[in-house]
Amino acid sequence: MATPKETLWELELHTSAKHDILRRYLAAWFPILGTYHRRIVYIDGFCGPGRYKGGEAGSPMIAIGEAMNHCNSISGEVIFWFIEEREDRLNHLRSELANLKTPPEFKIFTESGKFHEKFGQMLDSIGHAKDSLAPTFAFIDPFGFYGIPFSLIERLLKCNRSEVFVTFMVDSINRWLEHPDDKVVQNIVDAFGTEEAVAIATGSGNRIVKLRELYQSKLQGAATYVRYFEMRDRQNRVQYYLFFASNNDLGHRKMKEAMWKVNPDGEFSFSDATDPNQPVLFEADTTGILVEQLREKFRTKGSVSGKDVRCFVENETPYLKKHMTAALKIEEGSSKIRVEAMKSDGKKRKAGSYPDEVKLAWV
Ligand SMILES: C[S@@+](CC[C@H](N)C(=O)[O-])C[C@H]1O[C@@H](n2cnc3c(N)ncnc32)[C@H](O)[C@@H]1O
Repeated sequence: MATPKETLWELELHTSAKHDILRRYLAAWFPILGTYHRRIVYIDGFCGPGRYKGGEAGSPMIAIGEAMNHCNSISGEVIFWFIEEREDRLNHLRSELANLKTPPEFKIFTESGKFHEKFGQMLDSIGHAKDSLAPTFAFIDPFGFYGIPFSLIERLLKCNRSEVFVTFMVDSINRWLEHPDDKVVQNIVDAFGTEEAVAIATGSGNRIVKLRELYQSKLQGAATYVRYFEMRDRQNRVQYYLFFASNNDLGHRKMKEAMWKVNPDGEFSFSDATDPNQPVLFEADTTGILVEQLREKFRTKGSVSGKDVRCFVENETPYLKKHMTAALKIEEGSSKIRVEAMKSDGKKRKAGSYPDEVKLAWV
């Protein structure tokens, strides 16, 4: 994928899949956070021109569009902060924004410059008052790996209720890993926040997997919930990962729902292997994998509640509650689990349902 030089460029299929995830997530994020907070912040650090050559919406227009769709549930201000290095692209975005009629509660700022400089200055300015930062969603969507220092992402994740969605260009990192120019390699080190990234070039094993695992472990050190979505091309080569990191369980759940709903149209394959031993293909029927995972987790635990199982599935796997129900139905149908007929609230359990209040055990 060559880096486009023109102001506007063609929308590629994988980008529309990425936008689909973003759109679906924001459709949940704006109403959830907008209802209870006086101010919420959406940052698009590599915002682009706002439109593609064929007229399709770019990420800034998608974000504003979703906020408009949920205007009625947003009680306070929504700050949009769009950062773009190229003046021509920023001007294009500004002309797009000029055509929009947005509510007065939407404060839209466009800023010319490099993301890491502008964003770094903002974090410096809030200093120790990091808990005063309004709930913030940062979309970090570079063409390559320059200008996305991990130290900044980590600092943002330390702020209350902030989360990041990052395009992590692992294919290009892999290709530049042994570059003779120290500056290029330093950009890679900065993106990971560790020299370990460079050591991957000389070690054994699949470099793409190792690079992904390293980035994942760095994010996991900074946020409770980390998920990624793997974008492969037709040759089944990984192009990039979309990483989501958050400290909020509801946000995590909503992002998983968004990822499961994306329709790849058979053109690209998407997967999540946040647990390296349990890769998950989003388009395939993967209930069998969850069945195994649940057995592994709960087989020796005796009686557990439906809530224990649900929390595990929702917080520690890529799966959703509906997948849990499907997996438990399989287990119950083959008598691998015993499920109590009565719930802890004294009411009868509906067949085929596994509510929080039910007790079950693997046999
Ligand atoms: C992948 S495109 C963004 C596309 C946009 N997020 C969307 O989904 O419609 C990356 C953009 O970042 C801009 N850019 C490159 N380096 C940058 C930097 N250091 N800081 C901010 N913007 C940068 C590029 O000019 C380009 O418009």
